Amino acid sequence: MKTAILYQSLRGGTKKLAHSIAEGFVDKGSAVGVFPITNINAQYVLNADLLVIGTWTDGLFGLGARPAQLGKLNLLPDISHRNVALFVTYEISPEKSLKGLCEWTQDRGASIVTSSGFKVRGPFQKNIQPEINSFVDNALSHFLPTET
Ligand SMILES: Cc1cc2nc3c(=O)[nH]c(=O)nc-3n(C[C@H](O)[C@H](O)[C@H](O)COP(=O)(O)O)c2cc1C
Repeated sequence: MKTAILYQSLRGGTKKLAHSIAEGFVDKGSAVGVFPITNINAQYVLNADLLVIGTWTDGLFGLGARPAQLGKLNLLPDISHRNVALFVTYEISPEKSLKGLCEWTQDRGASIVTSSGFKVRGPFQKNIQPEINSFVDNALSHFLPTET
């Protein structure tokens, strides 16, 4: 099992989360490469069984929220027919940006195995480790052999 984690971060929160998610995959026995979306290892991405793609929520804090910097995500190589797990980071609500990122992924013909929003900044910051663990478990459950 090989996982490529591709992230877009402005102030470091999404980058830190990407590395925490990577640790989760390593703990479950997956080989992992973590790359900023603008500096990927194309060969690693090509060979990965799972792509994890994440960005932050941009908008006017409530109004017009969307996945940030999709222009940079558009520079990725073809992801059609790939298994993709999606995440966004946010401060107010992940709903619209996650929906936007899901649409972006579907438009590219990729298959979404799981998606989740993570609050990595702001007031009421909580321990997100349990959410990271379930994100990893949900993504990996897609690759488990089915019981006969
Ligand atoms: C210009 C700007 C606009 C933002 N707009 C929203 C928003 O509309 N809704 C929201 O929940 N968070 C919003 N955020 C918060 C970020 O999505 C959040 O802090 C994210 O974790 C930042 O990730 P980063 O540390 O990788 O840059 C905004 C942040 C910035 C800088």
